[in-house]
Amino acid sequence: MDDDACSVTITERETDTRHLFEDCAWLYAFCRERLFRDHTEEISQALFPDGNPSEDTSVLEVGCGPGFYARRLAQRYPALRVLGIDRSSRLLAWAQSRAASDGLTKCRFQHGDVECISACIEPVDAVISSRLLLVVGNRSAVMAEIFQVLKPGGCLFLVEPTANLKTQLPLAAMRLVTRFIHSAHRETFPQNAKILSSLEFEDLVRSQPWSKVSIQMYGDYQCAVCHKSGGAVTDSKALEMDADGIAVTGPRSVA
Ligand SMILES: C[S@@+](CC[C@H](N)C(=O)[O-])C[C@H]1O[C@@H](n2cnc3c(N)ncnc32)[C@H](O)[C@@H]1O
Repeated sequence: MDDDACSVTITERETDTRHLFEDCAWLYAFCRERLFRDHTEEISQALFPDGNPSEDTSVLEVGCGPGFYARRLAQRYPALRVLGIDRSSRLLAWAQSRAASDGLTKCRFQHGDVECISACIEPVDAVISSRLLLVVGNRSAVMAEIFQVLKPGGCLFLVEPTANLKTQLPLAAMRLVTRFIHSAHRETFPQNAKILSSLEFEDLVRSQPWSKVSIQMYGDYQCAVCHKSGGAVTDSKALEMDADGIAVTGPRSVA
């Protein structure tokens, strides 16, 4: 994975300190570790159904924040090479220090913009995207970049919350804390989090030419497992497809 190619973007982005996840990184990390649902089991089953990824299989967590899934997977599968990308320097520092204290030498974190990752990241075998699309500026660009950065035969695990109140409450708490800590004139939140309806979620998934897609609901979350054609497809489970090549399994609920 080529760090130098990202250096210009990193420098520009580092000046963007007016960011919610930068200003209140510790509170988000706390919520991630203690409050939010953990999908490690579903991710493991989707990406590595035989439970044994080969040596140096590469996994990218986009918008990794505190690197929860990157670290979980690196711990569970020591053969993996795991990279987390985010634009919050403080969350990345948190993730890196946790990975170091857990001895995860093949798990690292890098500053970068998920709307243009494919230019600076070498192709990977698997991508994880969790709670990212609700905050990014250009969701379609992110989906296109994820598709681009995946190797042929690669797999994406995408998960987004569907419960608006539960999603907005931690963010509101972060806004309050940040307003209290920083001066009143400081504009800290250039973006608003907006959860995706099930239709918006499915449309975004369909925006890329996946060879196989499975969409499922897990409580207050919608998940998609998407395979890119070519190479060895990791998910051995046969799925029923509809006319558009979308396999919808499990109970659907309205977001
Ligand atoms: C709601 S958090 C999700 C963090 C983590 N994936 C999780 O499951 O908790 C969204 C993360 O996306 C990052 N982010 C938002 N827009 C980004 C962008 N354009 N490039 C890189 N990271 C971005 C934020 O800094 C934040 O850490």
